[in-house]
Amino acid sequence: MTSSASSSPLWIFGYGSLIWRADFAFVEQRPAYIRDFSRRFWQGSSDHRGMPGAPGRVVTLIEDLEACCAGMAYRIDPKLTSTVLAGLDHREQGGYDQLQLPIHFSPTEVVTGLTYYANPRNSSFLGEAPVDSIARQIVDSTGPSGPNSEYVLELDSALREINRVLAQDTDNHVAAIATAVRQLLSTAIP
Ligand code: BEZ
Repeated sequence: MTSSASSSPLWIFGYGSLIWRADFAFVEQRPAYIRDFSRRFWQGSSDHRGMPGAPGRVVTLIEDLEACCAGMAYRIDPKLTSTVLAGLDHREQGGYDQLQLPIHFSPTEVVTGLTYYANPRNSSFLGEAPVDSIARQIVDSTGPSGPNSEYVLELDSALREINRVLAQDTDNHVAAIATAVRQLLSTAIP
């Protein structure tokens, strides 16, 4: 994992928990999207939403030509770039690397920024599984940051809000997992 400092404003694109829990200083936040990636619950989490030996599942980006993935972009004060990136590198140390990419606010307004993605070769990568299996694993998992199901429901709700103002997201993976998770939670024996 690498950090970089710069004198120009840095934009960070969040597509997971950063959408609703940006615990760093930013100057501005804007709904945005990236092209050619889909968001998938394919990364294992043993440090936030699961435990070692019993990982939860969190989202990562998977290359998918023609796909659009909506999220939230944050503009960082150049003076705080190193501090913010050091904090994010620490928060996302469970297998995520930085990726530089175009961040779109509209088809014609684009900036270059950073996001984090889980390289499929990292040891926590879990990969594809049926929606029902992913939902079951999520409902059964909890970690230092809270229940994995909370992460899914927060993400689903934040994405619905973003898609109301920026109808660019091209897939329903998060909504499908959230529906399956709600179903399992509603039938769970207390
Ligand atoms: C996010 O965009 O919320 C995010 C996802 C994975 C790693 C770091 C940040």
